[in-house]
Amino acid sequence: MGMEWQIKEQVRRLAQFETFDLRKNFRGRGQYDVIFCRNVLIYSNLDTKRRILSELRGALNPGGYLLLGAAETMVNADDKLRRLEIGGATFYEAS
Ligand SMILES: C[S@@+](CC[C@H](N)C(=O)[O-])C[C@H]1O[C@@H](n2cnc3c(N)ncnc32)[C@H](O)[C@@H]1O
Repeated sequence: MGMEWQIKEQVRRLAQFETFDLRKNFRGRGQYDVIFCRNVLIYSNLDTKRRILSELRGALNPGGYLLLGAAETMVNADDKLRRLEIGGATFYEAS
């Protein structure tokens, strides 16, 4: 109880849903203030993970945040984002 969250309708209405293979080129997909990529990179080997993280970093606006799953880490994969702990969650901030 109290552990389920639902996004506000006014925010949800702004969303576009589409499928996309993260291993493909990100160019032209836009720039974002926040990217949620929870428990997706766990299936990738280190090289693929590095490539995807680099693309995700490139798709963030300066000061934008990348959020991964709680058990995921960027150690050894990408050190160009600043790691922050906010309210018990880990954020990776683009410069
Ligand atoms: C464990 S589920 C996590 C789903 C959701 N993000 C969550 O946290 O509940 C992993 C997801 O990663 C997606 N995925 C794995 N490799 C991917 C790739 N190369 N491109 C896009 N999505 C991928 C799978 O389709 C699956 O939906």
